[in-house]
Amino acid sequence: MKTRIAVLVSGGGTNLQALIDAQKSGIIKSGEIVLVGSNKADAYALERAKNAGIEGFVMRDETHLLEKLAEEKIDLIVLAGFLKILSEDFIRAYEERIINIHPSLIPSFCGKGAYGLKVHEMALEYGVKVTGATVHFVNEIPDGGRIIAQKAVEILEDDTPETLQRRVMEQAEWILLPQAVEMVSENIAKGE
Ligand code: GAR
Repeated sequence: MKTRIAVLVSGGGTNLQALIDAQKSGIIKSGEIVLVGSNKADAYALERAKNAGIEGFVMRDETHLLEKLAEEKIDLIVLAGFLKILSEDFIRAYEERIINIHPSLIPSFCGKGAYGLKVHEMALEYGVKVTGATVHFVNEIPDGGRIIAQKAVEILEDDTPETLQRRVMEQAEWILLPQAVEMVSENIAKGE
């Protein structure tokens, strides 16, 4: 049986799109995205779900989300640009069953307050020459769970936060996240 996946989003959902495309092309074959949950009713990611024929869901709060996840018998939760911190109780209920994508090489430029464009601003400000993306399991420490996969991306002389964000997405996030989702889905499907 395929691993039942819920993707949680807050915004544009380009990583969700990468997952949908990977499902279509067969890169993701051990799992199936059955639900897209958003904490924002106007998230464009919900449009992407609708276009792909996947159920979209706007959560009122965590209890509401937990109810829905149980109802849909979700095995794996993927945070793809989900910008809300989950409570310890929630994380404990899905131990080793929640994964997140972060747009830097953890442990650099991560933790509370480091999300989206801010992460790239921090990397440019520090002056690192290489950054990237990380997929990791979620535990009670923000961006502190076990690392599943990482991919490095070069920083160029004239990068702005926006150009760097785009390159990290194209060269790392959109490739790494589908691969990691397939790997974890396969393990869950095998009962590991
Ligand atoms: C992505 O770059 C993702 O890595 C980042 O937010 C962006 C969401 O874009 N997530 C974090 O910073 C989490 N700490 P998307 O909605 O287009 O996928």
